[in-house]
Amino acid sequence: GDPLAAALEAFAAGEPVCVHDAEDREGETDLIYPAGATTPEAVARMRNDAGGLICVALSDAVADAFELPFYGETVDHPATEGHDVAYDDRSSFSLTVNHRDTYTGITDTDRSLTIRALGEAASAPRETEFASEFRAPGHVHLLRAARGGLSEREGHTELGIALAEAADLSPAVVVCEMLDDQTGGALAPADARAYADRHGLVYLEGRTIADRLG
Ligand code: 5RP
Ligand code: CA
Ligand code: ZN
Ligand code: ZN
Repeated sequence: GDPLAAALEAFAAGEPVCVHDAEDREGETDLIYPAGATTPEAVARMRNDAGGLICVALSDAVADAFELPFYGETVDHPATEGHDVAYDDRSSFSLTVNHRDTYTGITDTDRSLTIRALGEAASAPRETEFASEFRAPGHVHLLRAARGGLSEREGHTELGIALAEAADLSPAVVVCEMLDDQTGGALAPADARAYADRHGLVYLEGRTIADRLG
């Protein structure tokens, strides 16, 4: 079948997809859900089966409405100087947040509350008073998509947002790198594909998304 169509169908049903960016970029496969569909079980799956950092990517327009800066541009510390990310021009990190109704912010229920609320807020950014709903710092990393989307940057941030928009969902996705429990490195694409097959999930290459939605 058509993996992109299958991915959009999965997203519309609130199911995750596995997206490998590119061999010559991070070489990582992220498990990606629409933010609005995130349950405590989804957070548990991300930390147990994926194992990377759990981040919520927002479109440039939504990040603008919420006045979310790039982390490196807003923090005045020498560690934020020198743009030497190895795999791209820059990272997409913004602030870290918790929903204000969370307690510690890290539990599966707390993180799913934060992530789901971000998904809802992204569907009505102008009606959202971001700072009254979320506090920073928190336990969910926000990522800010490039203004030009996939034409400017082909990270999981932009790939995930393109999928959400094409599926007619709010432009907010939660992403988590799949790591290999044996080696500690990025899970190899063949192993990520095997995981997807075992669990009935769609696996696709960033190229497939960028060529058709970019
Ligand atoms: C944050 C990351 C991930 O790789 C995530 O996929 C977002 O980054 P990018 O858009 O650069 O792929 O490093 O955990
Ligand atoms: Ca594990
Ligand atoms: Zn990535
Ligand atoms: Zn990464």
